[in-house]
Amino acid sequence: MDGNGRWAQKRGLPRTLGHRAGVEALRRTVAAAPDLGVRWLTVYGFSTENWSRPAAEVRELMALPKRYFDSDLKRLEREGVRVRAVGRREGLAPDLVALLNEAEQRTAHNDRFFLQIAFNYGGQADIADAARRLAEAAAAGRLDPATIT
Ligand code: FPP
Repeated sequence: MDGNGRWAQKRGLPRTLGHRAGVEALRRTVAAAPDLGVRWLTVYGFSTENWSRPAAEVRELMALPKRYFDSDLKRLEREGVRVRAVGRREGLAPDLVALLNEAEQRTAHNDRFFLQIAFNYGGQADIADAARRLAEAAAAGRLDPATIT
């Protein structure tokens, strides 16, 4: 969801308000997408590279999922949206992890629209994590060569 900072700057507002407006844009997009024939939407909420931003901005970004789910989770649940968070849970505050888990569990039965939120996600981190899990499984003898294609 690039452009939040520039959107705010153009209006003489702090970047944090740009991110909050980004949550509103997400809300509008999720409401409109199913009627436009879109069933899957993946949004980048926080990349592994975003940790290098100023502490205050990181805090604000970390607070966005709560802001969104506090107001929208009931509706997402009711309207058939399945939420999935992708990215590293390690490194996130326990209450944020609990919130992401709750959103996934409460919408697990839905299949009208799939909303994936990339949070603490990075392409390189994803590949590195998968390779590490594969190596751990191999070292523990849990890899069956017959099933690897
Ligand atoms: C990049 O804008 C955007 C982000 C770092 C994150 C934005 C996240 C949200 C709007 C909400 C996420 C919602 C949930 C539910 C997690 P930027 O700061 O790089 O802006 P710029 O491109 O203008 O510099």
